[in-house]
Amino acid sequence: MGGSRRGELPKEKTRRTFSTAFICARIESVQIDILTLFPQMLQSLLSGGIFKRAIDRKLVGINIHNIRDYTHDKHHTVDDYPYGGGAGMVLKPEPIFEAVEAIKADISHKQGVDMVRIILLTPQGRLFSQQIALELSKYSHLILICGHYEGVDERVREHLATDEISIGDYVLSGGELAAMVVADAVVRLVPGVLGSEASPIDDSHATGLLEYPQYTRPTVYRGWAVPEVLLSGNHAQVARWRHEQAIRRTLERRPELLDKANLSSEERQLVDRLQQS
Ligand code: 6GU
Repeated sequence: MGGSRRGELPKEKTRRTFSTAFICARIESVQIDILTLFPQMLQSLLSGGIFKRAIDRKLVGINIHNIRDYTHDKHHTVDDYPYGGGAGMVLKPEPIFEAVEAIKADISHKQGVDMVRIILLTPQGRLFSQQIALELSKYSHLILICGHYEGVDERVREHLATDEISIGDYVLSGGELAAMVVADAVVRLVPGVLGSEASPIDDSHATGLLEYPQYTRPTVYRGWAVPEVLLSGNHAQVARWRHEQAIRRTLERRPELLDKANLSSEERQLVDRLQQS
């Protein structure tokens, strides 16, 4: 689809920056379909928090599909032995292809199919990030396929998935938790989901920096005081302090993020100063 390589999004999508991407107007809601062998595992997560809020406001639609429902044999077989031998089972291609095709048939008359990404959750995929969440949030339709067992028939990767995503360098028993991680990160970027009081622009990673420290009342708790500057009412000073804290924290905890962050020359100077002190 669209000539993009698997595991990647088309170039024009990857080039946009966080902030310009975010202010792009959205005209429609985001539809997310999740294919899984364990629908009940996901269902409960949709009944609270960000998902419930987004669904109630009709900003996001989420459907969970049982891959088993797309089998035709009496035993509803979803997996089989690997050709060539070896341990474990492999998810069969037919139910997955048929599930995706059924979902696509349902949407293609409503909107362009090119606004659909078909994402296979797999430890072999591209490492998920805030940047990828933002890219995905611009599509009107995401189909997430949860892998399981020893793997998924290679033809699903080759001829069905447009992307392959991993959420980190560790092994999960299945793609379900990974799919919900991806869905959460995408849903909260859909304009209107967080409401006006909270902006995803300030989040850790949205700027390429970790978030600054937050405090609430009481001003002194067990002898630990809130930094004076936050009580000053001087908004410019507060903003400067927070920005410096974000840079300081990123330098201490995730220095490699600073190499990628879009820092001004002033910010670079601050990094140099902090590194020397
Ligand atoms: Cl997407 N799936 C599985 N099974 N394990 C993972 C993962 C995905 N991402 C990190 N580990």
